Amino acid sequence: MNKYIDLIQQTFDFPTKEFHVENNELHFNGVNLMDIIKTYGTPLKLTYLPKISENIQNAKTYFGNAIQQHDYKGKYTYCYCTKSSHFSFVLDEALKNDIHIETSSTFDIPLVRNLYEQGKINKETYIVCNGFKRELYKQYITELLNDGFVNCIPVLDNLSEIDYYLEYVKVPFQVGIRIAADEEPKFGFYTSRLGVRYSDIVKLYEEKIKDNPNVSLKMLHFFLNSGIKDTAYYWSELTRFIQKYVDLKKIAPSLDTMDIGGGWPIKTNVFFDYDYQYMAEQIVKNIKWMCAKNHTDEPHIFTEFGSYTVGESGAVLYSILDEKLQNDKELWYMIDGSFITQLPDSWGLNQKYIMLAVNNWDNEYHNINLGGLTCDSMDYYNSEAHQFNIYLPKAEEGNKQYIGFFHTGAYQESLGGYGGIQHCLIPAPKHVLIDREKDGSIKHWLFAPEQNSESMLKVLGY
Ligand SMILES: Cc1ncc(COP(=O)(O)O)c(C=O)c1O
Repeated sequence: MNKYIDLIQQTFDFPTKEFHVENNELHFNGVNLMDIIKTYGTPLKLTYLPKISENIQNAKTYFGNAIQQHDYKGKYTYCYCTKSSHFSFVLDEALKNDIHIETSSTFDIPLVRNLYEQGKINKETYIVCNGFKRELYKQYITELLNDGFVNCIPVLDNLSEIDYYLEYVKVPFQVGIRIAADEEPKFGFYTSRLGVRYSDIVKLYEEKIKDNPNVSLKMLHFFLNSGIKDTAYYWSELTRFIQKYVDLKKIAPSLDTMDIGGGWPIKTNVFFDYDYQYMAEQIVKNIKWMCAKNHTDEPHIFTEFGSYTVGESGAVLYSILDEKLQNDKELWYMIDGSFITQLPDSWGLNQKYIMLAVNNWDNEYHNINLGGLTCDSMDYYNSEAHQFNIYLPKAEEGNKQYIGFFHTGAYQESLGGYGGIQHCLIPAPKHVLIDREKDGSIKHWLFAPEQNSESMLKVLGY
């Protein structure tokens, strides 16, 4: 029978840029994962920090190339959408790349203040403030503006939000307006609940912005839930958005920026063939073409990539605690963690990740189901993006099997919670950070140990 390594090499174009195998052990971005496991044990989450900078630089290059190729007059600005991962080590790494920030809720603003106090951002950094805002969020934004954060841009999510800023902001300031995009036809409703409907945008501008000397309209904002994809739906929504921009620009001369949101995809399977350069070129080309047709200056382009910034830097490593044959053909590998609590997208959205064995690549393989530790019957993972099965090496007495889920760096802690209580009191795993020295050698350290029972009992009032 074939070995696990044969299966992977037959099924995928393997090795890939991120993954290769040496001595039957998996390396992730050049890091021998068994070394990490031997040092820290499992379950563990890891962040390979250099990937964050690499992806930011790649996006800047794609848009830079597109701008050059089309002789586009606007500039490109990269914002990081903090909600994908708020951890300090993510922001620290991302901010090494001359980027800006997009916020989505109240507590993002103290986070911004903290970055400022540490000298990681300055008062010229763009702070694009999205979201349907409670009073405290509006108050924090107002304070930033009054304190001289000149590029803090509240993006109006409804018709009345601006009233607060008009009353309390004491300096000239800029705003954006978010357009409520139509969702993909298969979605549960027609138009996004976020943003201002297309037909109200001009009215909002004319009634509350146009004649007010303290405020100017800088940005039109648009975000499609399903992301930036090469589909008829994406291109037709983008075109509708650009049309609104050029129409609005005719009556709002201060408008000079188009924010096309987040949603650049990441590799969640080994077959991934998204052409980032082509997509950047098509976006720039479309905007340029429609601006030329309407005799409009080409706008600056902002993006707010969250998953793309941080997703591919993350991984979760588990060991197989035991195997259970529950009928004649369903074999379970029980992991030392939980999908529901630690990879909640795999449970709530049926999200697939790249899943590979970490060791024993020359063992024979078989079809298994992966089971989590909670009592919930849905705490399992048993299919991949390309097939309704998963395969792992056959377990051997005395030779523990380790597995990894990769590109898990975005949203999993924001959704699953971190440091609180979770289903069946499954603790948050330890978190290890990996970086490279100047000479390219690998260094790693513990960001946080596994959560302990005291911290949970405290939350629960014991
Ligand atoms: C307004 C806005 N911008 C950016 C993002 C980031 O999206 P992604 O992580 O897919 O890049 C989101 C995600 O929900 C969003 O709502």
